Amino acid sequence: MWASDPTLREDVLTMTGRYQELYDRSMTHSEEFWAEAAQKLSWYKKWDRVLDDSNAPFYRWFSGGEVNTCFNALDRHIEDGRGDQAALIYDSPVTSTVETFTYTRLRDEVARLAGALQARGVTKGDRVIIYMPMIPQAAMAMLACARIGAIHSVVFGGFAANELATRFNDAKPKLVMAASCGVEGSRVIEYKPLLDRAIERADHKPESVLLFQRSQCEAPMQDGRDYDWVVECAKAAPADCVPVAATDPLYILYTSGTTGQPKGVVRDNGGHMVALHWSMKNIYGVEAGDVYWAASDVGWVVGHSYIVYAPLLAGCTTIMYEGKPVGTPDAGAFWRVISQHQVKVLFTAPTAFRAIKRDDPNAKLMGDYDLSCFEALYLAGERSDPDTLQWAEKSLGVPVIDHWWQTETGWPICANPRGVELLPIKYGSPTVAVCGWDVQVVDEGGNCLERGKIGALVAKLPLPPGTLPTLWQNEDRFKSSYLEEFPGYYATGDAGFIDEDGYIYVMSRTDDIINVAGHRLSTGGMEEVLSGHQDVAECAVIGVHDDLKGQLPLGFVVLKSGVTRPHDTIIAEIVAMVRDQIGPVAAFKQATIVDRLPKTRSGKILRKTMRSIADGESYNTPATIDDPAILPEIADALKEIGYAK
Ligand code: COA
Ligand code: AMP
Repeated sequence: MWASDPTLREDVLTMTGRYQELYDRSMTHSEEFWAEAAQKLSWYKKWDRVLDDSNAPFYRWFSGGEVNTCFNALDRHIEDGRGDQAALIYDSPVTSTVETFTYTRLRDEVARLAGALQARGVTKGDRVIIYMPMIPQAAMAMLACARIGAIHSVVFGGFAANELATRFNDAKPKLVMAASCGVEGSRVIEYKPLLDRAIERADHKPESVLLFQRSQCEAPMQDGRDYDWVVECAKAAPADCVPVAATDPLYILYTSGTTGQPKGVVRDNGGHMVALHWSMKNIYGVEAGDVYWAASDVGWVVGHSYIVYAPLLAGCTTIMYEGKPVGTPDAGAFWRVISQHQVKVLFTAPTAFRAIKRDDPNAKLMGDYDLSCFEALYLAGERSDPDTLQWAEKSLGVPVIDHWWQTETGWPICANPRGVELLPIKYGSPTVAVCGWDVQVVDEGGNCLERGKIGALVAKLPLPPGTLPTLWQNEDRFKSSYLEEFPGYYATGDAGFIDEDGYIYVMSRTDDIINVAGHRLSTGGMEEVLSGHQDVAECAVIGVHDDLKGQLPLGFVVLKSGVTRPHDTIIAEIVAMVRDQIGPVAAFKQATIVDRLPKTRSGKILRKTMRSIADGESYNTPATIDDPAILPEIADALKEIGYAK
């Protein structure tokens, strides 16, 4: 049974259930635990060591082992007699399409695409950038790379040419796989001009582009560089799976850091496959044959892990949804998909449910659909506000599970392990540490804090399989970003606390990262763009509260002396610059011009104080502030644009 009722929390206080037993085993017999999980998958060569600590703090899982992730995601199920089962359902309300791919069909199309990549000279270890919308070909592209041991790096479609160029320079791809356009609601967004501009701007140029022409938009091709996807696949011989080392990279996924230079999170093959496969049964409570839907985008880690790899590794049917929670056509879209495809578990970001709640507050549209197949809703990507969580719980009548994870970790750090046992839900907490995760709260000096005290959330090394072994060709940045602040621990960048019952609460980031509609963005990156404007002397970008998107970026700009151009014009220009250089996904639409920024005596901008003022929260004037008189000026500027109420 599941319950949010506080009177039913007794059982968790003792923590004697199945979760605790399993969790303890994952801590005391970690290698046995993960070796057992690994045996459920296919290996060309068994590992020599489950956990290889010979180069700590660069831990490696399953070293000496050889695998192929694509084999385990597709071919293995066909060999097990699941060839005719649906592997992927493409549901696209924006193009009025529903198409089902069985495991056999998906494997055959992936094998041919992999053959087309090989024909263009792509081999094991080469990088391939994928810039595609939510169409089945995006998943095929990822799996085709995995099949031949090439390392993919998917770039979210909402990023601009500049962001794409940065990734070209870092990953140095041999080839790019792209589609001619994405469809965002009723708009067709052309991808090819963005791609062409990115290649033009990048120092590293890919040798070729494999382009999938969608019927909504036919993009011009460049002779000698661009190749038509369908034509190349028709010519290609299907490629077999290529064995790779378990420790070889499967993909690089760039994510926001504190600067404009994104971090290339590396994922290996062996540990990733084992952790994701384990998570489907134990965290999400689904098995082979079940329909599982992650309503996210392949450009994000949720898409990598829970649209593509995990459901397929587990033999489930995954849904690839090209649409929005609202407006495609209405706030009943999610219920339609659940009932039409018999979805058992849905995973999305809280912002999607806030959008549904806003448009259909009484969940009336739910009544149009039979949702008896539906068992649980999982939320992640940002803090789940209890209001939205309770609304979803009440409307759906199933457990709503908040869980916490990051691009870096690839799968949840903290969750309600529904597949093992459903622990009572405490609103505001993503429940408890997942097996393999030793989560602690520490102060600035790295000392463990007592229960209930807020501090930095850290995880004791070694991290479980599936987590980042390093950053792409940047071990120094890996160490300085995650390992140096608290020696012996991985710093998550989140702050929070653990309560008496072992429930973890994730409260906020400790750095400049903000979460806009579940999308992770760097305010530091936006500040770099603003600073590039001719009239800007100084600037700061903070994340302010937004009822729908959770947070929105807001810019503060100090102009160079003598600038007399109208403020509105300057603001419009910086808004356009962020859209052009980072992308529409940044949702940077507001800025205000101020005479000066509040700073400490040592010159540090007081972003946290500015955020509290903007959100109308109480705050203390920091003791280190250079000039306290500036705070009322900031409040006035914020009031003028509708904040600081
Ligand atoms: N390709 C091109 N542009 C994209 C894009 C893509 N794949 N995804 C988003 N964009 C654009 C949007 O069109 C929008 O542009 P606009 O400023 O011209 O309107 C902008 O980026 C911001 O997009 P988004 O944050 O999605 O806002 P929205 O107002 O279009 O929709 C929600 C709001 C809440 C409905 C939407 O964010 C949503 O469904 N979120 C679900 C959460 C999610 O998937 N999170 C991923 C991590 S789990
Ligand atoms: P991303 O790398 O895009 O997945 O974003 C990771 C960040 O999102 C985390 O470091 C948190 O700040 C935030 N986040 C993700 N899930 C949760 C959650 N369940 N509760 C609170 N914050 C979350």
